[in-house]
Amino acid sequence: MTTNTCLCPTTRARRDLRRIEFFQGTLDSTSEITDARIFDTTLRDGEQSPRTSFNYEDKREIAAILDEMGTHVIEAGFPVNSDAEFEAVRDIAESTHVTTCGLARVVEKDIEAALDSGVDMVHTFVSTSDVQLQDSMHATRQEALDSAVESVERITEAGAECMFSPMDATRTSEDFLIEVIEATSDAGADWINIPDTCGVATPRRFYDLIEIVDAHTDARIDVHTHDDFGFASANAVSGFEAGASQSQVSVNGIGERAGNAAYEEVVMALESLYDVNTGIDTTRITELSRIVEEKSDIPVPANKPIVGRNAFSHESGIHAAGVIENSDTFEPGVMTPEMVGAERELVLGKHTGAHSVRERLVDAGYAPTDAEVREVTRRVKEFGAEKQQVTMSELERFAQEVGVDEESEEVRA
Ligand code: KIV
Ligand code: ZN
Repeated sequence: MTTNTCLCPTTRARRDLRRIEFFQGTLDSTSEITDARIFDTTLRDGEQSPRTSFNYEDKREIAAILDEMGTHVIEAGFPVNSDAEFEAVRDIAESTHVTTCGLARVVEKDIEAALDSGVDMVHTFVSTSDVQLQDSMHATRQEALDSAVESVERITEAGAECMFSPMDATRTSEDFLIEVIEATSDAGADWINIPDTCGVATPRRFYDLIEIVDAHTDARIDVHTHDDFGFASANAVSGFEAGASQSQVSVNGIGERAGNAAYEEVVMALESLYDVNTGIDTTRITELSRIVEEKSDIPVPANKPIVGRNAFSHESGIHAAGVIENSDTFEPGVMTPEMVGAERELVLGKHTGAHSVRERLVDAGYAPTDAEVREVTRRVKEFGAEKQQVTMSELERFAQEVGVDEESEEVRA
């Protein structure tokens, strides 16, 4: 077992918070995406995660930070769901600067509740795949189409921004999908959202689908991707590459089943890999993730991109030694921990090399000889191999056992 120890001050001093120059090499193109907005659905689809529920204060707190960070749209909830949900959505709409959105089925009472809640945008949806029409909605294609058009007309007449989603778009027959998109666009939808409701899309197929959709609407395109096969964020980015203007994401990727495209992954891919200035304050991503982790009760895996505890941690000898010299060696280079408000960690354990041990000992005020570093490293590896945590006090114990001298005060000054 390894230990999580803080980044050494000497390493910290060497870093500077900068926008890293784009990497050269086989993948150095950055110009595929020009327009990219982030629609956060943590408080709606995210809350639909099994066993997750946000109370009023949770919702307000999460919405406030998303707003402060510069997220473009917050889907605050499903106003018709309950009085408490309605109040939370209403108060978020009142208290934030961001565009707020409320979800509504293509049902009058849902749409009126969303409009009454004071949101700027109403997101209305209906199933369009045959499987959902038959065995979930119990409606015909024509009924779905008519209700969709009526709902879009009502929302636009009321003066709200309108987003329409043909739910399960990726399992809908292409002809019917196009018919629904054309009809709702003609009815005035500002946004057509393409949901990959059951997460069956792959990046290339999703790209092709968004190009087809784009050819049949003047509305702006938004994408909503689920992670059943682990492609949610990749599909979201693929949607942008194909011409979508906005992607629906949730913090830590929480949401129905395996969840949604992750806010942190999509935002950082846009910023760091595509050189898109989203306008979002990425330095608060780690803070946001920790808050959502706590409130949603869904632990973030250690190896989760961007926000996992291991995302900027290094233990193995070659990697840690490289990172001590230049963090670009074994990190993306275009994304640093500072950019997301995280800290780099050099973890001591079974795979640790002498460079890390020397760095940590020097940071702790020791002046080890090469032989002493080797001996302390041997003890660290042995201890780590027994699945023991090599904490800083453990390291100091080894140093003392080996007889490493502390640096004199004059040297330190
Ligand atoms: O996954 C989905 O299709 C949804 C819709 C409400 C857009 O969440
Ligand atoms: Zn969804």
